[in-house]
Amino acid sequence: MGDAKVLADHSAHAITLRGTSKTYGPVTALHPIDLTVDKGEFLTLLGPSGSGKTTLLNLIAGAIGPTTGTILLDERDITRMPPRERGIGMVFQNYALMPHMTVFENVAYPLRVRREHPKAIRAKVMESLDRVGLRGLEDRKPRQLSGGQQQRVGIARCIVYSPAIIMMDEPLGALDKNLREQMQGEIKRLHKELGTTIIYVTHDQEEALNMSDRICLLSGGQIVQLGSPDELYFQPRSRFVAEFIGESNLISGRVIGNDRMKIAEDRFILVPKAERIEKSEHLVMVRPEKVRISKLDENTAEGDNVLSGEVVSSSFIGGMTRVTINTENGLSITAKMVSARAHSRPEPASKVRLCWSPSDSVVLEN
Ligand SMILES: Nc1ncnc2c1ncn2[C@@H]1O[C@H](COP(=O)(O)OP(=O)(O)O)[C@@H](O)[C@H]1O
Ligand SMILES: [Mg+2]
Repeated sequence: MGDAKVLADHSAHAITLRGTSKTYGPVTALHPIDLTVDKGEFLTLLGPSGSGKTTLLNLIAGAIGPTTGTILLDERDITRMPPRERGIGMVFQNYALMPHMTVFENVAYPLRVRREHPKAIRAKVMESLDRVGLRGLEDRKPRQLSGGQQQRVGIARCIVYSPAIIMMDEPLGALDKNLREQMQGEIKRLHKELGTTIIYVTHDQEEALNMSDRICLLSGGQIVQLGSPDELYFQPRSRFVAEFIGESNLISGRVIGNDRMKIAEDRFILVPKAERIEKSEHLVMVRPEKVRISKLDENTAEGDNVLSGEVVSSSFIGGMTRVTINTENGLSITAKMVSARAHSRPEPASKVRLCWSPSDSVVLEN
């Protein structure tokens, strides 16, 4: 498998999209986008339902043709190349296994189509089944397997012919939470072992944060932000990104100078220092786990933003406790902290102080 990677490695980009778009009559499924996927990268397409994820995947796979733009594979124009010649493997949410065939026959299928020698087929199928932990189940039919095992067959059938690129469209969507988390770990391990480029689709932001080298966040058929999980979580550019990924507190106001924001008459908070374009309203975001709650008589750190308010609700959700506070100047702020025992958790109606470091906040660009 490693050899295949080295042989194919004559350019840095596996896939390049230039001005690629897709419309269906009056419906724009995907606006013209530019995107490069690096060799060996794990890139996730994340976005709400209808944002264009499957359309983008189908364009790369060749299942549909673009309305405008080009698609390059290894710098080669494949815009009009038939799907089966692209050498791109697919894993689907509904597994798409052939029910009358055994596990072995399902995994062997892509090699049979390629007319490989039966001995080579057996060796490759067994290696793939080993990689996904299914050795010993090769004579079962799909209906004799659990959902997780069926998806492992789907993955084995994809990796068996060593495609340079693997695309997965919500592959864990049909599985329950625990199994989904376990399979996330297994797919990540396979990615490391095989060194293959993976383009992964999910609408689950935690899955995207956990698995990806980079996340491409889509909304309404457009890329709203492309970056590492860290960048999207800690440096969201827009309100949409801040709200789609994780939880966020958004405070509106007007930035004055390069590090202060006016949030009410005579009330200012500090924001990270930067040159900013004059606007009548800015939004600053601070994650709930960066907001600390203290008693009124406790000292707060020098340079922190401090607001006083009253606890509205406090919910104990296991390891974390989520507390909502209404501040004196009319903001509703959520703080999330590691849970303490009941007697020391903030109670509704108690007066508290909130503080956060300006460096833990982000002024959104749009
Ligand atoms: N064959 C089609 N005909 C008309 N509209 C389509 C077709 N396929 C997708 N769309 C529309 O394009 C948009 C993006 O769809 P899709 O790529 O499937 O989104 P996602 O996978 O993110 O849920 C949606 O508004 C969808 O209704
Ligand atoms: Mg989809």
